Amino acid sequence: MSTEPRREAKLERRGIGAIRAAKGAAPIVCLTAYSAPMARAFDPHVDLLLVGDSLGMVLYGLETTLGVTMEMMLAHAAAVVRGSQRATVIVDMPFGSYQESPAQAFRNAARLLAETGAQGVKLEGGVAMAETISFLTERGVPVMGHVGLMPQSVNASGFRATGRTPREVKRVQEDAKAVEQAGAFAVVIEGTVEPVARELTASLVIPTIGIGASAACDGQVLVADDMLGLFDAFTPKFVKRYADLHRRAGEAVRAYAEDVRARRFPAPEHCFGVKAKSEDTPVEAARVDV
Ligand code: KIV
Repeated sequence: MSTEPRREAKLERRGIGAIRAAKGAAPIVCLTAYSAPMARAFDPHVDLLLVGDSLGMVLYGLETTLGVTMEMMLAHAAAVVRGSQRATVIVDMPFGSYQESPAQAFRNAARLLAETGAQGVKLEGGVAMAETISFLTERGVPVMGHVGLMPQSVNASGFRATGRTPREVKRVQEDAKAVEQAGAFAVVIEGTVEPVARELTASLVIPTIGIGASAACDGQVLVADDMLGLFDAFTPKFVKRYADLHRRAGEAVRAYAEDVRARRFPAPEHCFGVKAKSEDTPVEAARVDV
């Protein structure tokens, strides 16, 4: 019999190469995650976990993603990496952490990868960010692009779907092409009319991950709290709700409050008993779980 301590078999984490290779094969399943328990629950079912800066609105109650900081992204991304074993983990670069210069972007991307263990970063922007994406990818930072509706540009363009006019179509096509040519391994297409997202997916060599885009995209992403019905502030049109956890949590908390007020909780099985271990052990020192 082996005297080696028994170790849990460690699963191999899916790399960027597997995401890139999925183009034209199986659809890529992607979901946001912000914490270790979320990551543990989602990891067996998804290919990619995105630590999105949507956490600013979903977790922190901010009105937009603009107030999200590097510190928030570092803490949440590290938790998601700790909670997952096999999904690729990509972390969003927050607003202001990469737009100033390629050097600023590299400094912050390097922190995000080194301090969290995530495998790549995502940043918003097409033609305007192409030089920065090249700078990062040439220096070993895998980048996922993000074109179409870009929430960090809310003050310039608003929160509305794009691709409805010839000018918008041209813009999103040029942005997606620029991101691909700059070396991104995949691109999120957000809030873009269906035929345009479909056509982009057919014309790009890298995988497209759609959100409010097209079923023809190479993969899909949703904000987990939206599809779980946890985020109740608003539900965008493109979200399919798979659960109603906000309501279920409210029901559970009401039941708890009723139990506490009626002194039904804690019950004996939730309390520690006192039991002397021997005649000599003082009763106070011998607390054991019952
Ligand atoms: O921040 C985020 O969660 C995102 C996804 C919605 C793509 O960027």
